[in-house]
Amino acid sequence: MRIGFVGAGKVGFSLGKYMTEREICVSGYYSLHPDSARLASEFTHTRYFLHLEDLVRASDAVFLTVPDGAVNSVWNSLKRSDLQGKFICHCSGSLSSAIFSGIDRTGAFGYSIHPLFAVNDRLQSYKELSHAFFTIEGSAEHIQLWEKMFTGFGNSVRIISAEDKTLYHASAVCVSNLVIGLYEVAVRLLSSCGFEPEEARKALGPLFIHNAQALAARGCEAALTGPVERADLSTIEDHLNVLSGNEREIYIRLSEILVDIAKRKHPEKSYGNISELLAKAPETERNGKNEKDNSNI
Ligand SMILES: NC(=O)c1ccc[n+]([C@@H]2O[C@H](COP(=O)([O-])OP(=O)(O)OC[C@H]3O[C@@H](n4cnc5c(N)ncnc54)[C@H](OP(=O)(O)O)[C@@H]3O)[C@@H](O)[C@H]2O)c1
Repeated sequence: MRIGFVGAGKVGFSLGKYMTEREICVSGYYSLHPDSARLASEFTHTRYFLHLEDLVRASDAVFLTVPDGAVNSVWNSLKRSDLQGKFICHCSGSLSSAIFSGIDRTGAFGYSIHPLFAVNDRLQSYKELSHAFFTIEGSAEHIQLWEKMFTGFGNSVRIISAEDKTLYHASAVCVSNLVIGLYEVAVRLLSSCGFEPEEARKALGPLFIHNAQALAARGCEAALTGPVERADLSTIEDHLNVLSGNEREIYIRLSEILVDIAKRKHPEKSYGNISELLAKAPETERNGKNEKDNSNI
C-alpha cells in the first residue's frame, strides 16, 4: 500500500513520519506551497509532487491532511483523476466521509481517520502518536484494512458512524480546546489577585497536570477533590460571592456536573443543599447579592 499526503502541515508531517517509521510506504507529499511538500518529503525521506494528479498516480491511498475547510475543494480536484480502487481518507474530527460526495461513481472508497490527539508540532508530534486513540469511519468494504493498520501500530481504534461524528468531535473539543478556555479563566482570576499572567500560568501548571493525569488514569470519580465533593457549602457560597458574569456562570454549570459525579462517588452523602445553592445562584446574581464584580476579567 502506497500512501500519499495532500497537505504538508502538522498532521501530514506527523502521520507520514509515523507511518514510514512503521514500514508503511509513503509515496510522498503535495501541498498548497511546494516548499511545505519539499520539507515534509525531506523529513520523511519520501518524494514531493508539484501536481496533485502525479501524487494520485503514485499512491493507492490519498490522505487529505488539509484544513477542514479545504477538504471539499481538494476532493473536487481529486475527482478529475482516475480514482478507481483507491482509498481517499481525511483526518478531520468533525467531518465524516460523506464530504466525498459522489465517491461511489469514481470507484474509490472514502474514510475519515482521526487521531484523538493534539498534533501541535510538525517535527515532534509523531513521537507521541503511538499514544493516540484513532477513530475510523467510512466505506464498510475495506474499513477493517485501516483498523488493522492502526491496531498493528499499537494504537487503540474504534469504528464510529458518520452520524455520530459531530457529537464525537464536540466531546474531543471539551477535553482539549475548552480546557484551554478554563485555564484562561483560572489565569485571569489569579491575575486579579496580583499575579503576572506568566507567573499565574506557571503556578497553575502542576495542579493542572497532576489533576489531568489522575483524571485520565483513574476517571472522574477517583480524581474528584474540592468543595463540591466535600459538600462544603460555605466555600462554594464564598466563591459565588466573588465571581460574576461568564466566570460565575461557568463555575455554576460545571459545579452542577461535579455534584452528579460526587453523588456517584459518595451515594451515602447528601448534596441537596449544594444543588439548591447552585440552582438559585443565577437569580442571586441578578438581585445583586454577590459582593465583588469581576465582570471585566
Ligand atoms: N492539529 C491537530 O491537532 C489535529 C488533530 C487531529 C486531526 N486534525 C485534522 O487534520 C487536518 C490537518 O490539520 P493540521 O493541524 O495538520 O493543519 P495545518 O497544520 O494547518 O496543515 C494543513 C496544511 O494543508 C495545506 N493546505 C491548505 N490548503 C490546501 C489545499 N487547497 N491544497 C493542498 N494543501 C493545502 C497547507 O499547506 P501549505 O503549508 O503548503 O500552505 C498546510 O500546511 C485537519 O482536517 C484537522 O482537523 C488535526
